[in-house]
Amino acid sequence: MTDTPTIVDPDVVAPAVAGLDTIVSLAKRRGFVFPSSEIYGGINAVWDYGPLGVELKNNVKRAWWRAMVQERDDIVGLDAGILMHPQVWVTSGHVAEFSDPLVECGTCKRRYRVDDLPGAEDLSPAEASDPGVIERLGLQCPNDGGPLTPPRRFNLMLKTFLGPVEDEAAVVYLRPETAQGIYVNFRNVRETSRKKIPFGIAQIGKAFRNEISPGNFVFRMREFEQMEMQFFVRPDNATAQFEEWLPRRRAWYERYGVSPERLRFREHRPDELAHYAKKAVDVEYRFPFGWKELEGIHNRGDWDLSRHQEASGENLEYFDPATEEHFIPWIVETSAGADRAAFTFLIDAYREEEVRGETRVVLAFHPQLAPYKVAVLPLLKKRAEIVDLCHRILADLKRDVMAVYDDTAAIGKLYRRQDEIGTPWCVTVDVDSLEDGAVTVRDRDSMTQDRIPIEGIKRAILDRLEAARTG
Ligand code: GAP
Repeated sequence: MTDTPTIVDPDVVAPAVAGLDTIVSLAKRRGFVFPSSEIYGGINAVWDYGPLGVELKNNVKRAWWRAMVQERDDIVGLDAGILMHPQVWVTSGHVAEFSDPLVECGTCKRRYRVDDLPGAEDLSPAEASDPGVIERLGLQCPNDGGPLTPPRRFNLMLKTFLGPVEDEAAVVYLRPETAQGIYVNFRNVRETSRKKIPFGIAQIGKAFRNEISPGNFVFRMREFEQMEMQFFVRPDNATAQFEEWLPRRRAWYERYGVSPERLRFREHRPDELAHYAKKAVDVEYRFPFGWKELEGIHNRGDWDLSRHQEASGENLEYFDPATEEHFIPWIVETSAGADRAAFTFLIDAYREEEVRGETRVVLAFHPQLAPYKVAVLPLLKKRAEIVDLCHRILADLKRDVMAVYDDTAAIGKLYRRQDEIGTPWCVTVDVDSLEDGAVTVRDRDSMTQDRIPIEGIKRAILDRLEAARTG
């Protein structure tokens, strides 16, 4: 790696918030994330995004697409189906290999991933699957101390049936990664886009994993979204490309506001590499529950395309006119979770500040990620002319940005509410506005207020947004 991973002591780098509860309760209270099917008691490891959460996640996906597709000449997009030919997952190795070691408690019947048990966190996949591991390490059920069964492999893919007959021949899988949709479309995309190697294909979409121990809120879910890019390269260029993608991907999180000291690289040991990977480095974030993977960057070699070529009988080679060579491209993959990224931006934006003897909670989102860019607030909601003017300003702003009106409290409380959901600017209309045709624009972070003529508000907001993008 060109950018040598810094060895950071997890106790030295403090998380942005001490406990996850603070974020979970804010997320629920303000409408970012709700438990799925809550009125029926919820469903484990599935979460729904509320009005603010959907804006945040859409903004994260837009920011990723912008950096990975829009701003580049060498990457194009794709949106493949969630359901694919079942042979794809046999060929990719997921049917045989995509599994975790599972143990069950003999008394309470709870099930655990071996490497989630206290005392087994650092085991490699091979060690965690060793039939004697429970006895050797004296592992017990964390719930009731009961005896645990020897580990058995548990495949993480979710299955369903296609068509009216529910038999083995109708089994299809809900994709556990979006990457395979890109590989099976490699030839179609290359031919239609006329891209020359090195080039990439990017995709955002749902993925599903029957995780044994999901948890930590939206960190590990059974239904989630990935933002994946597969970069097709000459075999002798794969190592160099891999090294280039590492700092680029880390820089993307920093560009959108994640504190650099809470990011680090971690290279996978040979015994923990996924079945398809020759080399893997995670971008990790210092979550409140420790350093954990935010994104994986993998050198997948020719694993995927070679196997798909062999199993399908279709030629997936690339012809390089410059060298007149035919070869199977190697793949450098950047694989990020949209939910995990949104979660990270949410945690890292959290601030508690003392202002005039009171605690102010602020989500200091990058303005491009903030759910609402601007709130329009009346100083006196009983004055019809003020409310009218607010709605005219709001309607104009809404043509270009997400904007919201609120008059359900006094102005101080309205500001605090917008701070807590991360709205970068508030426009306040007061009695003077009716006379001088100007309004107050308050900045979330500095809390400074500028008086701006009404006709210049939209331009001022758009300029500030643009400055945040390039700044
Ligand atoms: N195509 C390669 C691949 O899927 P991965 O490391 O298994 O690699 C990539 O997953 C990213 O997808 C992770 O870094 C994480 O951000 C996200 N991800 C994986 N499993 C997840 C889960 N159960 N819930 C939420 N996000 C998940």
